[in-house]
Amino acid sequence: MHLRLKDFRSYPQLSLPLPPGITALTGENGAGKTNVLEAIHLCCLGRSHRTSVDRDMIRAGEETCAVHARVERADRCHEVGVRLYAQARQRKLIYVNGKTVSRLGELMGHMTCVMFSPEDLDIVKGQPQQRRRFLDMMLSQCQPAYFYSLQTYMTVLKQRNALLRAMGKNMGDARQLPAWDEQLALAAAPVVQARRQAVMQLDALSRGHYAHIGGRKEEVLALAYQGTLQSSTDLVADMALALKDSRPEDIRRQTTSVGPHRDDIAVTLSGQDIRVFGSQGQARTAILSMRLSQIEVLEQAQGETPLLLLDDVLSELDMSRRSRLLQRLNRVQTLLTTTDINDLGGVSPAQVLQVTSGRITPA
Ligand SMILES: Nc1ncnc2c1ncn2[C@@H]1O[C@H](COP(=O)(O)OP(=O)(O)OP(=O)(O)O)[C@@H](O)[C@H]1O
Ligand SMILES: [Mg+2]
Repeated sequence: MHLRLKDFRSYPQLSLPLPPGITALTGENGAGKTNVLEAIHLCCLGRSHRTSVDRDMIRAGEETCAVHARVERADRCHEVGVRLYAQARQRKLIYVNGKTVSRLGELMGHMTCVMFSPEDLDIVKGQPQQRRRFLDMMLSQCQPAYFYSLQTYMTVLKQRNALLRAMGKNMGDARQLPAWDEQLALAAAPVVQARRQAVMQLDALSRGHYAHIGGRKEEVLALAYQGTLQSSTDLVADMALALKDSRPEDIRRQTTSVGPHRDDIAVTLSGQDIRVFGSQGQARTAILSMRLSQIEVLEQAQGETPLLLLDDVLSELDMSRRSRLLQRLNRVQTLLTTTDINDLGGVSPAQVLQVTSGRITPA
C-alpha cells in the first residue's frame, strides 16, 4: 500500500510506501508517529480516531490538507482520499477511485483498518457512548448499509427531539408525535438488529482471545448488548411501545429517553462489571481482545483482512502478553508505533522507520 499526505498535522508533504508485513514507526514523543496512523484511519472512515474536529488535522497555518491511500486487494486496487478545509463552510471532499463521492458511506469498506490506541481504554472504562461508537465504526466498515441506517435513525431522532423541545415552549404540535414515534421505531430496528448480532459475534470471539492473551483460566470475558430492545423479537413493535410508554417522561425532559442512542455493551469478567471491578491490565486485555475480534468480524464480512494500526500498545503490556499478542498478529499487514525499538521483542518488521518532526526516514 502507499500513503500520501499534504499539510496533514506535522507533515508538509509525505509519500510513504508500506510493504506487506509489519512496519514499525519509531521516534520520540511528539515526533509524529500517531499522526501517520490517524491519516490512515481518516482514509478508511472519513474521520480521525482521536478528534471530532476535522480542521485540527490541517497543518497549522494552512487552509487545507489532503490524505490519499492506495491499497491492493484481492479484487483490485482501491484508491481513497480525503481533503479537509479550515473554513467551516467548506465541506470535506471524499475521493474513491479518482472520483469525488457525495456521501461518506461510499468511502467505507474500500480500505478497512482496526486501530489499537491508548484511548481505547475508554471503550471498556468510559461512558456508554464510547462503546456505541466502537460498534458503530466497526459495523460501518463491515456494511455501508449500517452507516446509512444509523444516519437515518439519528436524523429522525433529531427531529423528534426538536418537536419535544418545541412542545416544551408550547410551540410544537403534540399530534405529530405518534408519526415521529413510528418513523423512529422503523429506523431503530436495523440498527439494533445489526448491533445485537455484532455483539454476539464479538462475545464469542473475545472470550477466546482474552483466555489466550490473559493466560488465566478463571477469568472469563463476556460481552452482552444492553438496551431497550435487547431481547426483543419484534423490534419495530417493541420500540414503538417503548416510545409510547416513555412519552410523558420524554415530553417532560424534552428529549428521547429510549432507543439505540442510549444502548450499551455490558463488559464483564467472570460475571463482574469490568468498569467497576477490572484492573487497568484486565481492562487493557479486554479491549485488545475486542479489537482482535473486530479483525475477524471484518474479515468475515469483507473476505479481506483489515490493516492493523497499533499505537503504543506494546509498551503497555507485560512481556508475556506482548508476545502472545504479536503471535496473533503475524499474518496481518500492520503499522505500529513505539518510542523504544527494543519493545518489539519477538517481531521482525518488514521495515523500521524513524520519525522526526515532519519527516520519515529509514532507521
Ligand atoms: N495541526 C497541526 N499542525 C502542525 N503540527 C501538528 C498539528 N497537530 C499536531 N501537530 C504536531 O504533531 C506532533 C504530535 O504528533 P503525534 O501525536 O503523531 O506524536 P507521536 O510521535 O505519536 O508522540 P507520542 O510518542 O507522544 O505519542 C506534535 O509535535 C504536534 O505539535
Ligand atoms: Mg502517539
